[in-house]
Formats: sequence, structure tokens, C-alpha cells
Amino acid sequence: MIIHDHLDINEAGHLTIGGMDTVELAKKHGTPLYVLDENVIRRQCRTYRDAARKYFGEDALPLYASKALCFTGIYKLAAQEGMGIDCVSGGELYTAKRAGFPAERIYFHGNNKTDRDICDAMDMGVGTFVVDNEDELAAVSAQAVRRGITQRILLRITPGIDPHTHRAIITGNVDSKFGNAIVTGQAMDIVKKAIEANGIDLAGIHCHIGSQIFDIEPFEDAARIMTEFMADIKKECCFEIRELNLGGGLGVRYTEYDREIDYADSIRQISEIVKALCVKNGIAMPRVILEPGRSLVAASGITLYTVGSVKEVKGFRNYISVDGGMPDNPRYALYQSQYTALVANRASDARDYRATLAGRCCESGDLLGENMEIQRPERGDTLAVLVTGAYNYSMASNYNRLPRPAVVMVKDGEDRVVVKRETYEDLVRNDVL
Ligand code: LLP
Repeated sequence: MIIHDHLDINEAGHLTIGGMDTVELAKKHGTPLYVLDENVIRRQCRTYRDAARKYFGEDALPLYASKALCFTGIYKLAAQEGMGIDCVSGGELYTAKRAGFPAERIYFHGNNKTDRDICDAMDMGVGTFVVDNEDELAAVSAQAVRRGITQRILLRITPGIDPHTHRAIITGNVDSKFGNAIVTGQAMDIVKKAIEANGIDLAGIHCHIGSQIFDIEPFEDAARIMTEFMADIKKECCFEIRELNLGGGLGVRYTEYDREIDYADSIRQISEIVKALCVKNGIAMPRVILEPGRSLVAASGITLYTVGSVKEVKGFRNYISVDGGMPDNPRYALYQSQYTALVANRASDARDYRATLAGRCCESGDLLGENMEIQRPERGDTLAVLVTGAYNYSMASNYNRLPRPAVVMVKDGEDRVVVKRETYEDLVRNDVL
């Protein structure tokens, strides 16, 4: 096992994913290549679904936050596993629709839904809008009235929590483009407006405090602040909040320095706190929604590259250049995210070489990691970066006119392409001059 139990080394000394030889996969499908282990995604979905029902009650629903990894097949898989989904754009909604995902189990997020998005979502029959702000509330209400429907909504609330994570991925702080802060009174104002608004069924409230969080305390704080707010709404408005969406954010093990998270037990701990807080605050236990993205898909994925060069800059450092980089994984460039890398065709050798892993873009910041412990590779070797299932393909770009890699899913000894590799023809498809 390397970091996660679906990653291992075979007799040939090659890295395997779900029992399949990654060097063979790279040969067959080309590189760069995203590879996902389907069983791992399904197992994570079941862990969330079973634990949510067991600890929060039968009506609890985990949503897959599909910004983490979005393509038609993943929505089919989420549907089969009984998940709801969180979509944040017309594009994600369209993909979910193409996959035949049940619209009533879609939660439509985002801090700036355009009129077109709102209409498209209503045309699809999206079950719940998570309304971010007063302008959006008015727009959703106007569309609902025009259509003669009642749109079920949650309101996005900002509890004002610092979950001790990277500054750029904190979204629960008061000074945020997302949601309505409780401390400033804005949250109560929008609740009152939503209760009064025509064509709106205010089902509940939502918060999301951040991402890659390993401690339970920030979730406890969020639960406390949100249930107290529910009690305030009950007191001030004589109105009962029926649904509480606690967002996503549980962390994932990227390197051996990260600890493993027991997701079911984390859900149990959060449920005990929510139940106790409801009793304490004199409110009925709401239906609870969870919204994980990263922890459902990150571990399932790896990225395979071909090594182009190994350059030793005397007195400084060693550079390994691969045939991908920030266009397929911008997370080191954006957040200095730490990854584990190994040479897939020498996976049983000691990782006793230190190197900076460089991409192929014309930009010095195009790195996948620095000071990485890895086997010393040679040109032509297959290099694997592990735990790339979340926020890699979904954040990929065509910078430097690099086509996006294919996505291959493996399951029980079979591999299948679930997203085709882009071609140069795809790159010029929309150029009209
Ligand atoms: N719900 C909402 C409203 C969110 O904004 C997010 C993530 C999630 C759920 C899922 O959170 P997760 O379980 O994945 O932590 N691109 C960054 C991550 C941005 C997260 C944005 N929101 C990265 O690569 O680390």
C-alpha cells in the first residue's frame, strides 16, 4: 500500500492502481493520463451515505460537490450510489442533465447565478437552489412567480469560522464573497425576506466553512453557530428551519505526513454535536445534508506522465520535467499543495532522490512540487503523481495549447476511457478566424 490501499507495487516493481499496472496503462492510453479507481469512489460514496443515514437519520442526504471532478460518467455513478449533487454552474447542470441525474436531488450553488442559469435550472426542475444573496433571492423569486411555481431554496449563511486551512480556500469567513454573515445581521435580513418572498419555499440554511480540514472542531463550531441561528429564526420569525446543510470540507491524505481520516466516525461525531445542540437550543432536529467533494474522489485518482529530462543544476537543485504540468494540475502553483510522486516503473526502488517536479509550460511557476522524495528517473520513465482525483481534471486548462489528458477508469481488472483525450483539432474547434 502506498498512501491509500488501492495503490500498490507488483512483482515487476511497477505501481498498480486497483490491481492494474500503471506502466501498461500509460503505454496503452498515452500520457499525461488521469486514472481513477471506480471502486474507491463508490466506496467513499457508500461510506458517506451509510454513515449519514445511520447517524443523522434516514432522510439525511450526502451531496457530491461535483466541482471536484466533473464529467458525465461521475454523475451516473453518483446517481447509482444514491447521492445528491451540488452543481455550481450552467455547465455542471448541463452535464448532470446529460447524465440523466434526477433533478430533484440537485442543489444549485454559486454566488452569481445568471438569469439564464436560473431559467435553465428551473426548466430542468432542479430541486433546491442555494441562494447566495438578496439580489439573487429577488431574481429567483421573480422567475418562480413568472412560471407559477414555488422554488425550494436554502440560504447560504456565513458562520465566520477560520478552519485553519489554506487562506485561499477558506470560504466561511465573514469577509467573503459567499453568503450572508450572521454577525453583521445580513443573515437574519435575508431570512426575513425569503420567508416573505413570493414563489419561494425557504427549506433551510447552508454553510461551507472551507476545504481540506482534518479537525472536527471547526465543524462543531459551525454546527453550534448554525443551530443557534436556527433558534434565533424560530424566536424572531416564528419560522422553523427544516434543513441544515453543513457543506463539505473533510480532508484527504495526500502524503504520508497527512493523517488518515475515518469519515464515518467524523460524521458520527458531527451528528452527536448537532443532536445535542438542537436539544440545547430548543429546535427540532432538521434534515441534515452533507456536501463532500474532495473526500469522495481525490484518493481514487492518479496522474501518469512521461519523464522528458532530469536536469541537475549544480549547487541548486534537480529538476525532473514531465509532459504535463499546471494545465492538468494547477494546485501546486495555486496553493503549494503537497503531493506524493514516484517513478511508476521503478516503484520498489528507494525514493532517495530529491527533485523539483516541473511541467512543460513556458512559465517558471509551472511546478508540480518541490523538494520531493522520488526515485531517480530517466527520460522515458513513467512518473505517477498520487491523489489527483479532486480539483485536477476539473481545474485543467489548455494553457500553452496543451490538450487536456484523457480520463481512464479502472474497475475489477478492466480499464475504460471515460473522457477522451483532447486533440489538436479540439483546440481550434471554436476559432473562427
Ligand atoms: N460545498 C461548497 C459550497 C463548496 O464551495 C465546496 C468547495 C464544497 C462543498 C466541497 O468541498 P470539499 O469537500 O471538496 O472540500 N480548488 C480548491 C478547492 C476549492 C473548494 C471550493 N469549494 C483546491 O483545489 O483545493
